[in-house]
Amino acid sequence: MSDDPLGFSTRAIRAASRTPAVRQRPTSVPIYQTATFASEDAEQLGDVVGDPWAGYSYSRLSNPTTQALGNAYAELAGGEAGYAFASGMAAIHASLASLLHDGERVVASAALYGSTRAQLTGYFGRFGVTTELVDVTDHEAVARALAAAPTRVLYAETSANPTTFLADHRALSALAHEHGATYLVDNTFASTYVCRPLELGADLVLESATKYLGGHSDLMAGVVAGPHGLVAKVARAQVDTGGTLGPFEAFLVLRGLLTLAVRMDRHAANALALAAWLERQGGVQRVYYPGLPSHPQRAIAERQLRPGNGGGMLSFELAGGRAAGGAVIDALRLTELTASLGSVHTMVVHPPSTSQRQLSEAELIESGITPGLLRVSVGLEDVPDLIADFEQALAAARAAAAVPAGV
Ligand SMILES: Cc1ncc(COP(=O)(O)O)c(C=O)c1O
Repeated sequence: MSDDPLGFSTRAIRAASRTPAVRQRPTSVPIYQTATFASEDAEQLGDVVGDPWAGYSYSRLSNPTTQALGNAYAELAGGEAGYAFASGMAAIHASLASLLHDGERVVASAALYGSTRAQLTGYFGRFGVTTELVDVTDHEAVARALAAAPTRVLYAETSANPTTFLADHRALSALAHEHGATYLVDNTFASTYVCRPLELGADLVLESATKYLGGHSDLMAGVVAGPHGLVAKVARAQVDTGGTLGPFEAFLVLRGLLTLAVRMDRHAANALALAAWLERQGGVQRVYYPGLPSHPQRAIAERQLRPGNGGGMLSFELAGGRAAGGAVIDALRLTELTASLGSVHTMVVHPPSTSQRQLSEAELIESGITPGLLRVSVGLEDVPDLIADFEQALAAARAAAAVPAGV
C-alpha cells in the first residue's frame, strides 16, 4: 500500500486527470474531451469566463477543438472569425437571434429549407418578428419587399432546396445594404469549396456542417463565419442559448474539411454525369442542376460557383406526379432513402413528403416544388452504377404505369 496520506479516490482523480505536456505538435487537432479548464489563478479565470476568445474555462463558452473548427471554417470561407454549433439549425438560430429584436422584420427566400422557414415564421414569429417571403431570383420583388418597411435581415440560400435556383449574392447583398439590412446566407448546398458568399457581399455565411463539410453522414454540426463584430454576437447568442458543438463532432468536421475539395470535385463530376443522363430520359420532364447548360441561371452559376463545379445537388421533375416520385424512389437499390444530403452515399428524397413536409400545397407551389419533384444528393459511388440504378428504377416505374412512357 502507498504511504501517500491521500485516499485512493483522491489520488485516482488526480492521477487520471494529468494532461500530458506535448512538445511535438500533433498533426491532427486533438479532441479536447473536457467540459472544464482549470485556470492558473482567479484573475485568469475571470478573464476567460468573460471572453471566450481570451482562453478556455467551460466548453459551452469555448473549447479548443470546437474553436479550431470555427477558425478553419472562417479561413476557408474568407471570414475574419468563425464559430461552430451543435447543428445547422443551431447556427441559423444563433445568427438570427444575434441580429433580431422584438418587432423587427426579415425578408427571406420563399424557397427556404422547411425548418428554417418554420424557425423564422413560427419560432421567431412568437417573439414578434415578422417574415416576408419572396422569390429571391426576382430582384424587383426583393427591392419592393425591402422598401415596404424597415428590414433587419435579408436571408437567402446559395442554392435553394430542392430546386437548385441560385441566389445572386452580389445583387442581393447590394439590395440589402441599400436598405440597411444584414445579408445572411445559408451556403449548405454549395459548401465553402464551391461558393464563398462573403467574397460576394454577404455579411454572414453559415452552413449545416452535417452535410458536405462533415461529408459522411455521421455527425450533426453547424458553422458561421463573417467579420469579428458580427460573429462575436452570434457566439454570444450561442453561449446564452447553449447550441454548443461537442469536441468529438468538431474533430469529425475538421477531418471532413481535409478532403472537402476532392469530395466536392467527385460529387460534382458524378452529379453532372447523372444530370446530363437524366435529361435524355423519357418520363423526366425537367432536370435542375447548376452545372448543366440548361440551368435557368447558368450565368449566375458561372459567376459565383467554382469553375467547372456545379455542386452535388440536383433535382428532377417526373411526369406522373406524386405516384411517379414514390415509384422511382421505391425501385432504387443503391441510394439511401433518407432526408439528408451532402454525404458519400447518394440520397434521394421526395421533398413534398420529407424536407418540405411542413408546407401546405399552396406553399409548396410558392417554393417551386411540384408533386413529381425528386431531389438527389449525388454521392461518391461509381457513376455507371448510379446511372444503371436510376435506369432500372425509371423502367420499373414505367412498368407500373406510374411514369408515362415517352414524355
Ligand atoms: C439548406 C439547409 N440548411 C440548414 C439545414 C439544417 O441543418 P442541420 O440538420 O444540421 O440542423 C439543412 C438540413 O437539411 C439544410 O438542408
